[in-house]
Amino acid sequence: MSQKRASWASSLGVILAVAGSAVGLGNFLRFPGQLAQNGGGAFMIPYFIALLVIGLPISWLEWNIGRYAGAHGHGTAPGAFNILFRKPWAKYLSSVSMLAVLFISFYYIYLESVMLGYVYYSFTGLLPEMAANGQSAEFFEKYLSFEFKLFNIPAAAIFFLLTVSLNMFVLGKGVAGGIEKLAKVLMPILMFLGLILLVRVLTLPGMEKGLAFMWNPDFSALIQPKTWLAAAGQVFFTLSIGMGVIINYASYVKRDDDITLSALTANATNEFAEVILGGMIIIPATAAILGTAALTDVAHGGTFGLGFITMPAMLAQLPMAGFFSIVWFFLLFFAGITSTLSMYQPMISFFTEELKWDPKKSIMILSAIALLMGTYVALDSSLNTLDEIDFWGGNFFLLLFGTIEAVLFATHINSEKGWLELHKGGRINIPPIYRFVLKWVTPTVLVLILGGWIITEGPARFMMTYYAPEVRPSILKTRILLVSIAIGFNLLIAYAWKTHNHDDKLKITVEDSIHD
Ligand code: ALA
Repeated sequence: MSQKRASWASSLGVILAVAGSAVGLGNFLRFPGQLAQNGGGAFMIPYFIALLVIGLPISWLEWNIGRYAGAHGHGTAPGAFNILFRKPWAKYLSSVSMLAVLFISFYYIYLESVMLGYVYYSFTGLLPEMAANGQSAEFFEKYLSFEFKLFNIPAAAIFFLLTVSLNMFVLGKGVAGGIEKLAKVLMPILMFLGLILLVRVLTLPGMEKGLAFMWNPDFSALIQPKTWLAAAGQVFFTLSIGMGVIINYASYVKRDDDITLSALTANATNEFAEVILGGMIIIPATAAILGTAALTDVAHGGTFGLGFITMPAMLAQLPMAGFFSIVWFFLLFFAGITSTLSMYQPMISFFTEELKWDPKKSIMILSAIALLMGTYVALDSSLNTLDEIDFWGGNFFLLLFGTIEAVLFATHINSEKGWLELHKGGRINIPPIYRFVLKWVTPTVLVLILGGWIITEGPARFMMTYYAPEVRPSILKTRILLVSIAIGFNLLIAYAWKTHNHDDKLKITVEDSIHD
């Protein structure tokens, strides 16, 4: 509390950093996959509804929690919930958000490193060459099973080490000096690369068929609960909500600086990248060039295969294949790194603010975690481990934390005070209907969605019948690991609050409090 907390250098910087967190693999790979699997254009109906009644309100809520907590010296959900609810359980309950983002980071950083590797092999020409010979799947397999070597070391390991080091280097430079500076450079480049690809694919022969394949609405999908759940899940993942990331980034916003418009602008930027770039490039272009048969993988959830196998195969058919391959993988890599930085920063904040570790030690420990867990994911080239970790981190915990947060705020926080707090320094007034939405609609919808999700998706996953019998032992091993991490993290929270004097509530004056 006593030392001055870091803060963003400019409001454009924070918007770009948050947009950088939001725009990621979720936009370019996950979204098109979800759209194609869930009714094509019809998916946009539940998607936009989820955006309006869950995405936007939860974002504003998280910006509000974050800025408030930051002013009291905390940048994590446990720190924030502790001062807001003033009950010991609150900090443990909110550990769900940190675990979500930690689990996502385990595989996300590895995929990001694969993109860097693909940039390299696009430059050398090996990838476009193999893709042109119909071997992009073989390339992916060889890459993941460490068959490509550089200096006799598996290329995958080198790019992974490089990616982790790059992330840690930027984190070491701090919030304004590292994350913000990088976002200011990379976000415009990313958008530019996306536009290059967009213009290229929109001028492809047969593109109207590709767009029709992707966007033709199949309204029958709307009566299936799974379509609505997929829409809600996608909104969480893409906006980086439910994972404590927005809480953390907003904690570096100065107390009287705007958050209402900033949140909206960052989300709008994300939606542009998602719907326009993500929705128009990969699947429509593939359908146009390779035909819809090449997309059968999508129906089986092969979202990553789509980016790493189908897209290079499609690009290989175009003139200047190598150039477009470089553009595509740079785009994914830049989208990835601005997202992983936001996944690690809450941990740095936890280590430095709650455990009082010095920043160097925090980064060393985080590097060790990233390397160890990334390797754990990488060693299973079938990607089942990745899929399992994504199920818990990227789906279940996000929805769970979003629901916890929406319900707790609706029931425990004085909505009038919360609303005033949200508008402090606000450049726009949020339509007052959102007060009602936050109090009633968002929590109710989320409870229903979470319940529906547990009933429909839960059993096969919880009981592991989703997986083939032979992979179940390794899935069980991963689960034991994840549970141990969850227990370990909660023990760290207990330790932090025991050893360091977290007497925040004494420091919050009555007027300052948004508690009832
Ligand atoms: N929001 C990030 C993404 O969409 C995690 O990839």
